[in-house]
Amino acid sequence: MIIDGSNSASITQAAQVIAAGGLVGLPTETVYGLAADAANEAAVAKIFAAKGRPSEHPLIVHVADAASASRFASEIPDFAQKLMGAFWPGPLTLILPRRPDIAAAAAGGQSSVGLRCPSHPVALALLKACATRGIHGLAAPSANQFGRVSPTTAAHVQGEFGDDLLILNGGACSVGIESTIVDCSRGVPVLLRPGVLTATQIEYACGQNLLLNNEQSRQEKRRLEADSLPPEDAPRASGMLESHYAPKAKLRLMDAKALQTALDILDTDAKNIAVYSRQQMHSTSTNILFRRMPEDAGLAAQQLFATLRELDQPDIKLIWVETPPEDAVWDGVRDRVTRAAA
Ligand code: TXA
Ligand code: MG
Repeated sequence: MIIDGSNSASITQAAQVIAAGGLVGLPTETVYGLAADAANEAAVAKIFAAKGRPSEHPLIVHVADAASASRFASEIPDFAQKLMGAFWPGPLTLILPRRPDIAAAAAGGQSSVGLRCPSHPVALALLKACATRGIHGLAAPSANQFGRVSPTTAAHVQGEFGDDLLILNGGACSVGIESTIVDCSRGVPVLLRPGVLTATQIEYACGQNLLLNNEQSRQEKRRLEADSLPPEDAPRASGMLESHYAPKAKLRLMDAKALQTALDILDTDAKNIAVYSRQQMHSTSTNILFRRMPEDAGLAAQQLFATLRELDQPDIKLIWVETPPEDAVWDGVRDRVTRAAA
């Protein structure tokens, strides 16, 4: 059931569902989440079951403010504190060493925990209402079936989980792609998942170089070869699986020229193809579904998942997407469409 998230009675109703160990569809500025009390193991198990997500894939724990982070994190390095100061509330998740006595199931059994303070007013209202009931963190992965396109409206969430789920309506998400994830549990910041924040913004805010995850793994590999020791529970970010965010239709990335060439060689009655491009494309077939990707990276992020869902109609077999530009501001969008194509 979708209820109006801007109404305080709705927030109370949702907080009661959370306190009773239930699940709530929650709007955040990035994407909608499927939320439960992070400290309640049975409630967290319901999230994994509903999503069909393997239970060792850790969930992000959402908190009302930076002060609440220390309820879950055993240690917050100075650079992580700076990142919270700069970007919270907002689309940034920090991986921190976890207090061993809390949120083990939400963290997928890892010794670290992913923490984020979202900026969406409905999310903050629910987090505050939960805090007055003694619940200080909401575990919430994106509210989609495992491996599928993340939801950016309440209707998307209802389409994924049906009408039994209580969903707070907070409108269309303003950011549109999932939070940037920075691992702060290894002494240096490591980017695990790009989002709308650029590496430069992150480095400027924390005063340190941001390592890319593959640089980290290379370093680690060398260290492991030197020590021949097993990795100490290396973070696993399911958003980092090569294939993720996938529509049912087959998605292919091409630059504008290759995309137009592919269209040019189609038959005049070609169908079952959708095209999502920044540049204007043409086809002699009138059955091709065309959508334009905005020129602005932020707008493109905001519309990306809703457009992929819209194009992923039963009769569409192929979605041809123009490869986003190489610029850093496009990193998040490029990452998502590349994984959707994998
Ligand atoms: O924007 C977002 O981050 C959204 C909204 C709802 O907040 N949430 C989201 O959750 O995208 P999810 O579960 O779809 O993606 C969370 C990612 C996963 O890739 C997960 O593996 C990673 O965060 N993650 C969570 N805790 C982690 C940890 N302790 N170590 C490494 N990765 C972690
Ligand atoms: Mg997800």
